[in-house]
Amino acid sequence: MGHLSNRNIIIGVSGGIAAYKAAELVRLLRREGAIVRVIMSRGALAFITPLSMQALSGNPVHTELLDEDAEMGMGHIELARWADMLILAPATADVIARLAQGRADDLLTTVALATTAPLYVAPAMNQNMWLNPATATNIATLTERGITVVGPIAGDQACGDNGPGRLLEPVEMLAAITNRLPARPLGGKRVVITAGPTREALDPVRYLSNHSSGKMGFALAGAAAEAGAEVVLITGPVALESPDHISRVDVESAQEMLAAVMDAVSSGTDIFIAAAAVADYRPISVEAQKIKKTESELSLALVRNPDILKTVANATNRPPLVIGFAAETHQVAQHANLKLVTKSLDAIVANDVSRSDIGFNSDYNAVALFTALGSEITLEGSKRVVAESLIAAFTEMLESKATNIMGTTNG
Ligand code: CTP
Repeated sequence: MGHLSNRNIIIGVSGGIAAYKAAELVRLLRREGAIVRVIMSRGALAFITPLSMQALSGNPVHTELLDEDAEMGMGHIELARWADMLILAPATADVIARLAQGRADDLLTTVALATTAPLYVAPAMNQNMWLNPATATNIATLTERGITVVGPIAGDQACGDNGPGRLLEPVEMLAAITNRLPARPLGGKRVVITAGPTREALDPVRYLSNHSSGKMGFALAGAAAEAGAEVVLITGPVALESPDHISRVDVESAQEMLAAVMDAVSSGTDIFIAAAAVADYRPISVEAQKIKKTESELSLALVRNPDILKTVANATNRPPLVIGFAAETHQVAQHANLKLVTKSLDAIVANDVSRSDIGFNSDYNAVALFTALGSEITLEGSKRVVAESLIAAFTEMLESKATNIMGTTNG
């Protein structure tokens, strides 16, 4: 997988002879794993056809701001929200001027104004237009606003001039963009995470469950995706929105969760994280009809559920890193370390759930990470911050495991 795997990128093409180079840029971005959508200005249509851009990007091309059909598919605000990055290449002097003024008089400038994603501008124009103080002022305005300007370069121009104003070559544009991206230490790695509670049905209307909110597992999924991993999040019923760029599998019972997990890890997984609060027991049988009340006591017979974490840790295709969670009220370190050993884990994240300020529904967490190699680190903060630190720790563990394995085979 490439540097840009699963990133949503919009290429905005405006009208200039260099528009054909945008086609090559689309091809390179897709080769790096990006999902690309193309917006073409009306001027761009005179230089390159939407059909070529559609074929190269694999998505319909967007051209009009007020087109009923297009707005029904993916409207301008949806496009602006969808994008992780907007690259205007080539950007003409006119588009640059309109961006500098904050105008929104076509689809391209509207999306540029409406998005909160990073904006890259690759200018291309005649050297005199580039050197004109009006353009220089507009470029300075864009740069001050945090927009990244890549290029132009000097050279032969289509109009016969020789000077600055040539669009940066697509490979150089790609390098300029990827160099500015934050590091993706889990790029090319696959992470499977369980989250939330499970529901164990008693009859068609009742179930046994627990108070898990799923927040920690979802935060881990978001942090792992941010670190570049391909993430599969297998979750019990929760009221949470999925983080960006993950695949989500919704399940109800522990048995369904186990089946989904085994399916997900079967295609090769680097890290498995069990953050779900899986019910240890389920009713021995599920009544086909609603259980009616009587005057006498009601006893429930329960049977053990499969231990998903232990099953993955002992599977023949065991992921290199298997991580568990332990919610404890007392003797946290002892109980967590016992689970680490009995479940054959690489590490366990322990929560002290006797504390009232952290735990199931809180956005805040304080955890201790115990590893099979005997190290212990404590982390505290919002669930997102804790999740980012945990993912960084798991990344390091995965790297050192890979180095050790290579050391063993070589030595
Ligand atoms: N787990 C699992 N499948 C189960 C039960 C637990 O995958 N059927 C995982 C949880 O996701 C968590 C860890 O195992 O990562 C928790 O271990 P467990 O021993 O089940 O913790 P508790 O249920 O808290 O155990 P106990 O009640 O014995 O403290």
